[in-house]
Amino acid sequence: MGKNLALNIESRGFSIAVYNRTTSITEEFVGQHKDKKISGAKSLEEFVSSLDKPKKIIIMVKAGEAVDLVISQLLPFLEKGDVIADAGNSFFKDTVRRSKMLEEKGLYFVGTGVSGGEEGALKGPSIMVGGSEEAWKHLQPFLEKIAAKAFDGSPCCAYLGTDGSGHYVKMIHNGIEYIDMQLISEAYHLLKEVGLSNEEISNIFDDWNKGRLNSYLIEITSKILRKRDSETGEFLVDVILDEAEHKGTGKWASQDSLDLGVPVYSLNTAVLARFMSSLKKERVAASKLIEKNSVIIENKERFVQQVHDALYASKICAYAQGFALLSAASKEYNWSLNLKNIAHIWEGGCIIRAKFLENVKSAFDKNTQNLMMDNYFFDIIKESENSWRDVVTFAVRNKIPIPGFSSALTYYDSYFSERLPANLIQAQRDFFGAHTYKRTDKDGVFHSDWND
Ligand code: 6PG
Repeated sequence: MGKNLALNIESRGFSIAVYNRTTSITEEFVGQHKDKKISGAKSLEEFVSSLDKPKKIIIMVKAGEAVDLVISQLLPFLEKGDVIADAGNSFFKDTVRRSKMLEEKGLYFVGTGVSGGEEGALKGPSIMVGGSEEAWKHLQPFLEKIAAKAFDGSPCCAYLGTDGSGHYVKMIHNGIEYIDMQLISEAYHLLKEVGLSNEEISNIFDDWNKGRLNSYLIEITSKILRKRDSETGEFLVDVILDEAEHKGTGKWASQDSLDLGVPVYSLNTAVLARFMSSLKKERVAASKLIEKNSVIIENKERFVQQVHDALYASKICAYAQGFALLSAASKEYNWSLNLKNIAHIWEGGCIIRAKFLENVKSAFDKNTQNLMMDNYFFDIIKESENSWRDVVTFAVRNKIPIPGFSSALTYYDSYFSERLPANLIQAQRDFFGAHTYKRTDKDGVFHSDWND
């Protein structure tokens, strides 16, 4: 990704210096691009001294200790006012710590979330910037040029707030990415279980990509389902082991939602679904103990439409949760995040880019508290609701796990419930632990003698 980001920056008319701790990698890269304004450095000292003041350095290394190590190695060669941008998937609390440490030394640190994978880095990623506004002024001219474009042609790059805000927003992007992927995979699973072939499902996704569900993830799913394995001639997807791995950003998002007390059912479920998938051996053994009848569906065309509607409604709920978490984090960490802006910079370049984000942007332009309450999305959920419930019921009856679809439906049903059974939980807490409860008919805190 670092190489592609460098090529992208150079292609927009900037000269750039590159450094890798393995000199042969630097030399090979520079050698491949002799015609470009890219210079390679053999040491960090040589690299830093080749830069104009204030020096603007982008670090692209594995999140965690490697970032601290590179910063400590750079420090002896930096002067007040120089800028370090961390473009990796760093944990936002590390970014807060690093910002503080570097700002005390008169340096700027910018936590820069970059999404779009290798291709995005080259052709235009979505860039989520957090740090001091002063540092942003130095980076803005080239970050805006290398970023993808939103639907209105403006850059998918924005300054979002201080210290860890950029990396936080990237973490939530990834959390939503996990949910989107889980929901699409469940749609694929359902369609496969009712007997559709990979090619048929690929065509369905292709079709869906022309409508409301248009998105990068739907597009690549359609391509994935058509791809043959060069060794066996089988569909490649069928020979891939069903154990989903992860690098941690979804789990961090989930953990923070628990810290902030935000009910993000779908996010937590998407993370847990990956964990469950990795219990392959146990699942194989357990599956032998139950019987599964073959799944019969009378009207396939109708079912495909129902799955489409369930997927779209679940997606609305997923984004509602992601944005609710952003809103809570903004208050907790004093960032004043602009939700409309965030939806805007996700319109292009990033993994969750989708047509849908244009409507999300409009919803947050109207100061919507929860995405599901926006008229446009509320009407779509109402329209899709019967299909959504039918799909969930069908899956439950046929023993097809659909944690994404059902947790989104639970989120929706819970959010729109005036009364939940939490009154009983409060009574139980008070019964066994004298934890007290509030009443519906008067203010105050109460405790009862339940054995009376
Ligand atoms: C992006 C992606 C990327 C992430 C991968 C892998 O926006 O370009 O989110 O940053 O690293 O998607 O994530 P997992 O390994 O956790 O699935």
